[in-house]
Amino acid sequence: MGMTKLSFKHLISVDQIKKEDINKILFSAEKYSQKVKNKVRSNSECSGYILATLFFEPSTRTRFSFESAMLRLGGQIITLEHGFFSSVKKGESLSDMSHVVSKYADLIVIRHPKMGSAMEFSKNSDVPVINGGDGANEHPTQSLADIYTIYEEKNRLDNLTIGVLGDLKYSRTVYSLLRLIALYPNNKIVLISHPLVNMQKDRKTKLEKMGCKIVETQSLEEVKKDLDILYVTRVQRERFTKESEFEEVKNKYCIDPKILEGTKKDLTIMHALPRVDEISVEVDKLPQAKYFDQAQNAVFVRMALLDLMKDG
Ligand code: NCD
Repeated sequence: MGMTKLSFKHLISVDQIKKEDINKILFSAEKYSQKVKNKVRSNSECSGYILATLFFEPSTRTRFSFESAMLRLGGQIITLEHGFFSSVKKGESLSDMSHVVSKYADLIVIRHPKMGSAMEFSKNSDVPVINGGDGANEHPTQSLADIYTIYEEKNRLDNLTIGVLGDLKYSRTVYSLLRLIALYPNNKIVLISHPLVNMQKDRKTKLEKMGCKIVETQSLEEVKKDLDILYVTRVQRERFTKESEFEEVKNKYCIDPKILEGTKKDLTIMHALPRVDEISVEVDKLPQAKYFDQAQNAVFVRMALLDLMKDG
């Protein structure tokens, strides 16, 4: 596996990502994981490069882990944490902003509540743009971190039964992840959700066309014994149009040690975080709980991405 370039310049959608890209990213991320864990502090792959992080929605992990990744690679960052307080407030369009910011930085990460915003932003940018989440649409770099975590835990990306639970309608991490999983053979996806937040039909059809077997249920109890992975999501309150629907959905599931009885010993429990109350804190100390590792892995994967994407 060479460290040659990825097949895309901007990373907007998981649909752009090929298996060879995943191989390169995982290989590089593993290298950075070893370095960081061994406290090697002399990385300089991005020395002389500037990353701009533009955030129009709340974020802890995505912004911090990108910034941590850039700093660990010897690069520098400029950041806009409250995007709506920038010149956008004066009426500047995203595409004008892109013309300008791409002259100030060598790489750009953008998060914005509007679907398609990262794509729009990338059109006027001559430096690579990375989608850090565009509304309920996509979150490709989170999915790559999730894939890295699954590979680290299971040593394979095929022949897995993956349960995804919670808000399958608005969760951008779920749909992005499942499309990457669908690149690998014999994966079975179990969708577990309240009917008000079932995955959209066109999204299910797309996954099936890609070769995934899909099962849909409301009952974790019914399917839990078969799962290799349980990927839990936060109910995305900010994306509901009716507060009453959020109220109805919000307490449907809580993963606690009791519900985990009868699951596989090597079940891997994942969550992109932030968690609200869908996983009880008692689960954190169980060996199956991998969500904090998943958050750390995001730094290694983002180091790999910045390094591999930095020259466009
Ligand atoms: C997720 C997101 O922003 O989509 N968080 C993240 O990036 N780690 C999940 C969420 O907000 O629930």
